[in-house]
Amino acid sequence: MKLLHLDSSILGDASASRQLSAAVTEAWKSSQADVQVIYRDLASDALSHFSAASLVAGGTPAELRDAAQAHEVALAEATLEEFLAADAIVIGAPMYNFSVPSQLKAWIDRVCVAGKTFAYDENGPKGLAGGKKVVIASTAGGIHAGQASGQAHEDYLIMVLNFLGITDIEVVRAEGLAYGEEPKANALRTAQAQIDDLFAAA
Ligand SMILES: Cc1cc2nc3c(=O)[nH]c(=O)nc-3n(C[C@H](O)[C@H](O)[C@H](O)COP(=O)(O)O)c2cc1C
Repeated sequence: MKLLHLDSSILGDASASRQLSAAVTEAWKSSQADVQVIYRDLASDALSHFSAASLVAGGTPAELRDAAQAHEVALAEATLEEFLAADAIVIGAPMYNFSVPSQLKAWIDRVCVAGKTFAYDENGPKGLAGGKKVVIASTAGGIHAGQASGQAHEDYLIMVLNFLGITDIEVVRAEGLAYGEEPKANALRTAQAQIDDLFAAA
């Protein structure tokens, strides 16, 4: 099984979502024998934003592309292939300004590709990337459950994944991480217990 492990926190070793996404990946590896992990650090090795130049590069015949355009198309194809090849995905997803980090959004913009991961017909949109299992390791400084903010970054991610046909999604959550050392430790303990439960059942 191919497991794509993504991190997007900009906080390096101090990151809570990195800690949780690593714990999910380890639990997954322990729960079955044949897990091949592909790791992508979207913060330290950031994808460029999908842009007008990306569109032009994609629309330029391969033999006419300049070096920058060839690089752009290779990056887009490799990111998409990596996503399509994954049987499972672990996404480290902190809430930054009520959404996902822009580094994670840049990845989303590379994997939402008409005709490859979704399509429209007379019945509306259809996801083409189904059959994957996803675990989101979600973190937030505030507490959003029951608030107007909801879990905006989680809800957004789930909506995009559903759009691509992915419905087998679990969320492991540590929120209120800015409330102080003890609440943070408790939130991380709760999230770790969620991970243990998730893979005890596997
Ligand atoms: C740039 C930035 C923006 C943030 N915006 C929010 C926010 O909108 N809501 C919130 O609850 N916490 C916010 N936080 C706090 C983070 O969600 C919190 O620090 C969490 O631990 C981040 O996960 P990480 O440690 O994996 O980066 C923000 C943190 C940063 C660095």
